Amino acid sequence: MDRIRINGGRQLNGEIRISGSKNASLPLMVAALLTDQKLTLHNVPRLADITTMLQLLGQHGVEIGAAPGENGHAHATTLTLQAGKISSTTAPYDIVRKMRASVLVLGALLARERVARVSLPGGCAIGARPVDLHIAGLKAMGAKIDIDGGYLVAKAPKGLKGARFTFPKVSVGATEDLMMAAALAKGTTVLDNAAREPEITDLARCLVAMGVPVEGIGTETLTIQGVDKLKEATYSVIPDRIETGTYAMAVAMTAGDVELLGGRLELIETVAQTLRSAGVTLEQTERGLRVHRTNGALQGTDVMTEPYPGFPTDLQAQMMALMTRAEGASMITETVFESRFMHVPELARMGANVTIHHESALVRGVPRLRGAQVMATDLRASVSLAIAGLAAEGETTVNRVYHLDRGYERLEEKLAGCGADIERLKG
Ligand code: UD1
Repeated sequence: MDRIRINGGRQLNGEIRISGSKNASLPLMVAALLTDQKLTLHNVPRLADITTMLQLLGQHGVEIGAAPGENGHAHATTLTLQAGKISSTTAPYDIVRKMRASVLVLGALLARERVARVSLPGGCAIGARPVDLHIAGLKAMGAKIDIDGGYLVAKAPKGLKGARFTFPKVSVGATEDLMMAAALAKGTTVLDNAAREPEITDLARCLVAMGVPVEGIGTETLTIQGVDKLKEATYSVIPDRIETGTYAMAVAMTAGDVELLGGRLELIETVAQTLRSAGVTLEQTERGLRVHRTNGALQGTDVMTEPYPGFPTDLQAQMMALMTRAEGASMITETVFESRFMHVPELARMGANVTIHHESALVRGVPRLRGAQVMATDLRASVSLAIAGLAAEGETTVNRVYHLDRGYERLEEKLAGCGADIERLKG
């Protein structure tokens, strides 16, 4: 298993190109299942999770073409996906267990083929993460869903019907799943208390490009008019706001000055406000987002994770790593997922002072962190350890890098390009 070795204490200065959004790309790729026509997606990042989704779509019968990206983005990919015929309506355990977002094929397969068999995702490192909202929404649209042998077995022999569904809790995945199901349902579907993440907006815009009328884009009420057939479309994925926020925090950690090429301030407003309170400067430039902290210490700042437009849970671990070196204390409260503090004992091994009380973590800033061998059990927790390593004295080795590879494209190259002493150790 690969590891990443970091010698801390170097400032980050220069440029980092922000990749296309992973969490936007995954549902957009699933949208290809809705039609026998071609869907072309630009600016797809090169990540393990994208490969897993391609594997899943491939076994459903999707023909896949991949080419280097447009606009000189040597590392982005342009995908062409065409589901001329669905050859299998089963999403097998072996793929779904690797990536929870695989569950998103449920709504699309059911809407198009009227049957779907999708493995339950099973255990997950960050909380229980059930799929009850996906099930309740599809049932409201007329599906019958049973659980058999660890699989969700869904049927809608006469097709799905448009319905009004109010989410009892905001869920990104369930909103996306139901939007895709609604695209091929008979009549109109109204989704209330829908998630408003930019990735949802991206999916809505892509559905519109595929010929599905969607109203209320960017609001908590989405109205989707089902159609008989979707048409060929081309769509370009938004830049990754979580990657943007992660590098902004890495730069802040090292008191550096970096332009995040392609980064968009309006996608991380709440994060930017929080970072400003902590003493970091962020400004939109023509080419992206400039982040710098060239004088003054970091200030302890409280954070509470919430659905968009609140502070994203996917940046909580990175923010905590940053706050370990701030002056004063910060209270970090996680309201989206239970048990999403697995990075805390690892940060403590590097000298961080963090106390957990229920869903809050009290971080008291320390004058220095020390390098250590660390490992994490999820993607964002792993990158938080890399951020801590950038500022720690001596050598940090982050084990189980496959978590990082799920969501960060060429992390070590991007950081090394700005002056970090970082390398991947193979094996
Ligand atoms: C997506 C993101 C993930 C991010 C999360 C929250 C992708 C591929 N992943 O995950 O990176 O951390 O949004 O911003 O886009 N819940 C239920 N029942 C359900 C579904 C969810 O109770 O049927 C709960 C979850 O346990 C969690 C909360 O709802 O507590 C939010 O989860 P959700 O928004 O669905 O997250 P994902 O779509 O899995």
